[in-house]
Amino acid sequence: MHQTFSPDEVAESLTPGGGVRRRADEIKEYRCKNLVAVLECPSDIRNLGTVIRNVNALGVEKAYVVDPRKALPEDWDDMRERKSLSKTSVSAVKWSFVKRFDSTQACIDHLERNRFVSVVTSPHKKGAKNVVLHEADYTVFTKLAVWFGNEKSGISDLAVAHAEMCLSIPMFGIVESLNLGTSSGIVLYEVTKQRRDYQRRYKRSGKRRPRSGA
Ligand SMILES: C[S@@+](CC[C@H](N)C(=O)[O-])C[C@H]1O[C@@H](n2cnc3c(N)ncnc32)[C@H](O)[C@@H]1O
Repeated sequence: MHQTFSPDEVAESLTPGGGVRRRADEIKEYRCKNLVAVLECPSDIRNLGTVIRNVNALGVEKAYVVDPRKALPEDWDDMRERKSLSKTSVSAVKWSFVKRFDSTQACIDHLERNRFVSVVTSPHKKGAKNVVLHEADYTVFTKLAVWFGNEKSGISDLAVAHAEMCLSIPMFGIVESLNLGTSSGIVLYEVTKQRRDYQRRYKRSGKRRPRSGA
């Protein structure tokens, strides 16, 4: 059974000579390899921190940030030292790899070169294929990038045009959308749950069922 740590235990484990290595070993098999969360032009540092925290907590491998304003340092090592990011992500930026891109096109090029399939998220119907979050199978793509849009303008047409499908969390209220941090938590929970289950069933048994994008 996967053990849960209290904040005090986590803090204790971060002390020099403590159990960060042990913790990293314990969670290794629960982490989702080849899964990237992409944030397209986030404008609020608190949302960015929350998404990085979700990425780390849910076992997503990496976060990519489309950052045309050049608000972030080029290097992950420098991001890890950035107080605003460390604070808003409760230090998750120290443990989860974050890469920035100058533009949506640069990020798409990088993902496609590395044979990632993209899916976008939106409260609205976008592009040719629209799916309700819990009705899609996220294990059919070996390498998957899940895109989240800007707080005001949402996901761009360019990202939609390069995506396999658009996912939406069903909404039953009056408001038009969920907050970026909240929606990333809900979407990544579903995606990582499915991919972890796939890894457990097929990888640990040494068997693999075929999936696309390999
Ligand atoms: C505050 S919303 C953007 C609202 C924007 N007016 C729009 O039209 O998309 C920020 C991001 O959160 C995600 N999001 C928010 N609500 C969502 C929902 N119900 N389903 C899927 N993603 C959602 C999307 O990635 C969206 O681009």
